[in-house]
Amino acid sequence: MDSARPHERATAFDRMLTPLHRWIWSDAGRRAHKLLRFGETETDGGRDILRAAEVTTDPLLRRLYLEHAIDEFRHGVLFRRRAAALFSDFSSRSNSGFQGDWFAPGGHGLDDLQVDDESDETMLAFLHLSEKAAASRFTVYRDVMQHDPPTRAIFEEILHDETFHMNYTLIQLARVAPQQHQRHLWRARLSRLWKSYLRVATALAGIFGSILLTIQYFVLLPPFAWLARRAERRELSGWTRVPPERSGLLDRQY
Ligand SMILES: [Fe+2]
Ligand SMILES: [Fe+2]
Repeated sequence: MDSARPHERATAFDRMLTPLHRWIWSDAGRRAHKLLRFGETETDGGRDILRAAEVTTDPLLRRLYLEHAIDEFRHGVLFRRRAAALFSDFSSRSNSGFQGDWFAPGGHGLDDLQVDDESDETMLAFLHLSEKAAASRFTVYRDVMQHDPPTRAIFEEILHDETFHMNYTLIQLARVAPQQHQRHLWRARLSRLWKSYLRVATALAGIFGSILLTIQYFVLLPPFAWLARRAERRELSGWTRVPPERSGLLDRQY
């Protein structure tokens, strides 16, 4: 059960990708860009949780959501400040183009959420899984950041908060839905899985679409270009005499 793992611990999948994460985070420029985007994600998440605090009718949840939102806003500031410091230090040396967002995404995935449509139970289940995923990834990011102690310290600090968010959301879910909290968690898991599938499918469709259009460009267009050139060669150049039968009076437009 989830409550048996109250501390941050990377999932096997995230641990398996550690070498890839180490490479992605090794470039200072890429690191700065990623931290900047992480900052935006955290701030956006904070905004959604602030909205959740407005719409909940549960006083305890409202207080916890407010503290949670303040944490997320603070994370946003920490990430952006560190990104700004890296940009000023390393901008001239960076050669990063690839950001690896598929493999090293930021925060919580709260962009999937329509806060106004959620009940306390579904909101808490979604938040718990999102915070758990963030805590897992941030554990790996912290561990691969030995070469950058200030960034590592930020991940360490944020990880502490994400672990608290992960735990309080599970405890509150068990409070507001004592009989059905596992069902809510499974529904939230399936929903996240479905949205992940849609994201991957959309990205793959974009890649396949680009490949097909490229193939069409190189396979279908050349015959038309050849036919056009051949027709051009048959055309007489310059002014040509119009045959008498086509040279009627100029008393109509066509
Ligand atoms: Fe956060
Ligand atoms: Fe969080």
